[in-house]
Amino acid sequence: MCGIVGYIGVSQAAPILLDGLSKLEYRGYDSAGIAVYDGENIKVQKAIGRLKVLSEQTHDGATMTGMAGIGHTRWATHGAPSNQNAHPHFNQEETIAVVHNGIIENYLKLKKHLEGKGYQFVSDTDTEVVVHLLDYYYKGDPIEAITRVMHRVEGSYALGIMFKAHPGILYAVRKDSPLIVGHGKDGNLIASDVPAVLKYTRNVYFIQNEEIAVLSEEDISFYNVDGEEITKESTTIDWDINAAEKGGYEHFMLKEMYEQPQTVRDTLNPRIKDGTIDIEELGMSEDEICRIRKIHIVACGSAYHTGVTAKYVFEGIARIPVEVDLASEFRYRNPILQQDELVIIISQSGETADSLAALREAKNRGIKTLGIVNVVGSSIAREADKVMYTWAGPEIAVATTKAYSAQLVAEYLLAIKFAQIRGEITDTEVASYLKDLQKLPEQIEMLLSNKEKIQHFANRYISAKDVFFVGRGLDYAISMEGSLKLKEISYIHSEAYAAGELKHGTISLIEEGTLVAAVVTQEALYKKTISNIVELTSRGAFVLAVTNTGNTEIEKAADYVIYIPQTNRWFTNSLAIIPLQLFSYYVSVGKGCDVDKPRNLAKSVTVE
Ligand code: G6P
Repeated sequence: MCGIVGYIGVSQAAPILLDGLSKLEYRGYDSAGIAVYDGENIKVQKAIGRLKVLSEQTHDGATMTGMAGIGHTRWATHGAPSNQNAHPHFNQEETIAVVHNGIIENYLKLKKHLEGKGYQFVSDTDTEVVVHLLDYYYKGDPIEAITRVMHRVEGSYALGIMFKAHPGILYAVRKDSPLIVGHGKDGNLIASDVPAVLKYTRNVYFIQNEEIAVLSEEDISFYNVDGEEITKESTTIDWDINAAEKGGYEHFMLKEMYEQPQTVRDTLNPRIKDGTIDIEELGMSEDEICRIRKIHIVACGSAYHTGVTAKYVFEGIARIPVEVDLASEFRYRNPILQQDELVIIISQSGETADSLAALREAKNRGIKTLGIVNVVGSSIAREADKVMYTWAGPEIAVATTKAYSAQLVAEYLLAIKFAQIRGEITDTEVASYLKDLQKLPEQIEMLLSNKEKIQHFANRYISAKDVFFVGRGLDYAISMEGSLKLKEISYIHSEAYAAGELKHGTISLIEEGTLVAAVVTQEALYKKTISNIVELTSRGAFVLAVTNTGNTEIEKAADYVIYIPQTNRWFTNSLAIIPLQLFSYYVSVGKGCDVDKPRNLAKSVTVE
């Protein structure tokens, strides 16, 4: 994963680099480093641990003077977090410095080759081959050296490069790892993601695969892999700058949970016009929609969980068969894909390596692809045949909440629209669905306002060793997300189980006091899940039930009940997730975990 930044301009570079890195820490945070050209030499400073260690070490950048530099925040892939493995990496003479996000897949071969030429390696990283290879090819023309390196390396990269011999210039290049260039008034910047540059400029270029950017204090030029100059259009970013700041909340996760009513509204409202759903943006004809024989939903992590929900909703409302796959499985399982099938890739970042590879696999096989993506201009958004944006704005906490909620409603809209076009539901039914959808933001607000009750409950479970989440049908889908939320930010082992499967294994793990969260929102399955709850409590489990308002029957079986407001049965996941998010959040806070940056994880998984 990792985040890279670079700045060249009229201001001191180090504070700008540190500030930019602070917006990219979500991409990795086991070590950090910056390189600054001080007028004579390129100076590097690195630190293990969070960015704040580097900031303290450099007195917020004050100890490193110079107006050009590059920086990096690392999520280790090759080599443990250490000073040696932290970026920037130097060539032997310390005349070239490189920061890298991605993986050089043929680095062992290249390393052997370079060692044969006398290069000595000081780190365990794959990145170090890049800087030595640049040194090897550099004969006075950086672009030539860069393009030659591009021809030799396999894998993914976004690189920020400085040459001591060209002190007034920064170089950047990418393939399959994100990279943007910001054109500012007082200088130009490179970064892995837009929030890192927003403070300085809203004028951004999205660098495409195998493009090179050359930045000086005033100018920016672009080249292709053959070293030929190309022209590019810039984009104006109109995000609210506060969207990438904590704004008084203790954690980004809490802030983002509270933004859910708005993100749900922003994803729904532009698409609901005159009582009907408008998804013209997709450019799909009615005929095309009617011809769809099967949908494959492919994603990773929480995005995958929204896909599991969507399977129930698409099949239930639109009666289209749906297969849901983890992208890392889909890409290698030689899936059967046929004409008139649609592959939907769901991704917040639009950069997840496996999801991107799955998209390309589907495209290579000539299958239509649709991306449900949050980050505008990201790789999946650009490469998918059709894009539907979830308007959640920047999400910083590693554990997704608001992007997850936005994905769910985007998928509901698609399912309803497809169902209507295919004649599976009447206009009256559409109107009723839309009415319920439009109530969701308010209902989410209501659930959020009840946070104290959940906080209190969560505090009792900060020492839990195992927690189970169970449900049937859509309630199973939400259990998966509830379980993931808890384990990723609190490090408590948790598992989601289809309630009907408990007796086939998991029930043997239930001991006196084991916490089980049972989600019971599907009326047709109430009785079935309640039986499972009884089986659990009679074996000592403490059962927290999340159910619909009115289902008071459950109080006889469960130990603690949280009610969600009434909504259509297909949309209950959007409400049931709120108490589960809050529960995980408060367990994590209670345990003193790093809520926004849980250990070993990163937000944007741009490596396989
Ligand atoms: C990481 C994040 C998750 C996210 C998953 C997929 O694991 O921590 O929150 O769901 O990647 O990411 P994407 O950007 O493709 O939605």
